[in-house]
Amino acid sequence: MKVIRSVKEMQNTMLEQKSSGKSIGFVPTMGYLHEGHLTLIKQARRENDVVAVSIFVNPLQFGANEDLSTYPRDFERDSQLAEESGADYLFYPDASEMYPRPLAIKVTVGDRTDVLCGRSRPGHFDGVAAVLLKLFNIVVPDFAYFGMKDAQQVAVIDMLITDYNIPVTLKTVETVRESDGLAKSSRNVYLQPNEREEAVILNKSLNEAREGIINGERDPEKVLSFMRERIQQNSSGTIDYIELYSYPELKPVKEIKGTIIIALAVKFTKARLIDNTIISI
Ligand code: PAF
Repeated sequence: MKVIRSVKEMQNTMLEQKSSGKSIGFVPTMGYLHEGHLTLIKQARRENDVVAVSIFVNPLQFGANEDLSTYPRDFERDSQLAEESGADYLFYPDASEMYPRPLAIKVTVGDRTDVLCGRSRPGHFDGVAAVLLKLFNIVVPDFAYFGMKDAQQVAVIDMLITDYNIPVTLKTVETVRESDGLAKSSRNVYLQPNEREEAVILNKSLNEAREGIINGERDPEKVLSFMRERIQQNSSGTIDYIELYSYPELKPVKEIKGTIIIALAVKFTKARLIDNTIISI
């Protein structure tokens, strides 16, 4: 696996690969790789001639009071894991390489962002869209792989690709979970031992809600208040949001039908965890 830190070198290398007829699978990450990322890399490996992974903690997607400076980083471990999972190229630019000057042309995401993490993290998805526009132009992938844990991110990227006619196909991969159901996340390391135990209720309550809907519940408010109670009674975390929308449009629904998402974010002492379930009925 080759590590490349320069934008120009990465772009030239990828364009060469592409012009020799190779398909490129791309897994963009912010590093501190866990099994969720490795699943994406392995799937990209199975489906492409060339696999590129990027590690870039993108400052544009962090708010002023968020965890940019403390976001976990471990390049040595990440590069070993990326290589073992099948990456051919690891793009690892620093912030001045990606943003030599502040962007003069900004990306503003105008839909699917007034709810869930978009509401709690104003500007977050503008930063995600901006960095992905750059990364897609640098890596020129045929396929880009994203985990469904960030379902709102997937809904936004789907719109970005459509609105800007980016010649890449979005591939999504199911959330990878610990054996007790907790969604894998780079931020799980910040949970205190009791919080780690309590955090199981996040996925559990989503599964219970799913079961209720499969068994006939159609009232979003009933589903959400049931989940709120379950989480409040079983964890010390503070609920940031628990919401239910149509998916991928992320519009409120009066009655549960079609494809919907139930998504939640819960804040623990040093980690804010997200999880979701998508149900089609
Ligand atoms: O999901 C992430 O890790 C990031 O939002 C992404 C897609 C790599 C953009 O910085």
